[in-house]
Amino acid sequence: MSHIVAPSVLSADFGNLQRDIEMINNSAADWFHVDIMDGVFVPNISFGFPVLKSLQKHAKKPLDVHLMIVDPDRYTQAFKDAGAEVLTFHIEACPHLHRSMQNIRSLGMKAGVAINPHTSVELLQDIIADIDLVCVMSVNPGFGGQKFIENTYKKVARLKDMILHSGSKALIEIDGGVDMNNYRKLVDTGADVLVAGNTVFSSSNPAETIIALKK
Ligand code: DX5
Ligand code: ZN
Repeated sequence: MSHIVAPSVLSADFGNLQRDIEMINNSAADWFHVDIMDGVFVPNISFGFPVLKSLQKHAKKPLDVHLMIVDPDRYTQAFKDAGAEVLTFHIEACPHLHRSMQNIRSLGMKAGVAINPHTSVELLQDIIADIDLVCVMSVNPGFGGQKFIENTYKKVARLKDMILHSGSKALIEIDGGVDMNNYRKLVDTGADVLVAGNTVFSSSNPAETIIALKK
């Protein structure tokens, strides 16, 4: 299977959101990556359900929803209703992660766990068989356009090893600072899903950049 490219809507032009959604619809991209920030778990606030509803209305590809919020369990059903196909919670925000993941799956969504740069992949050992995706943060969450943290490669390699040995089918997603210089090495190290915000939306030709990231 070739890797998945998920442009991050956070870097879209919100004054021209429909235009940018159509660009992704008509591009080689596979998913929409949707960042929800609450100003508590992370220092920034992104957008909420009204914007997500517009996204749901126009998007023709799966919505990969990444919650950077405290107590995400409160909103599992609401994000299902808003069209999420993949729903990802941060391990750092979940005292009962196994139950949270079961709830997501019971509603028919794919269950993802995101880990911050300081969080070891080894903490996933006892949940890896019961989840569908691991989002490895390659920047500290909160903002688009940050610099990629090099230690990510080591984490991806260890995570890939864990997944192969556990028989898990979890996908490895890389989120933050993915660009034309690092994407190939990330895929070669084991990444299945590349999130790209700044690299896609700041380029002169976003559709061409998405094609380049697919190669
Ligand atoms: C960061 C978000 C990312 C962000 C990535 O907190 O989770 O999804 O949009 O943006 P870039 O690709 O610009 O680093
Ligand atoms: Zn994200």
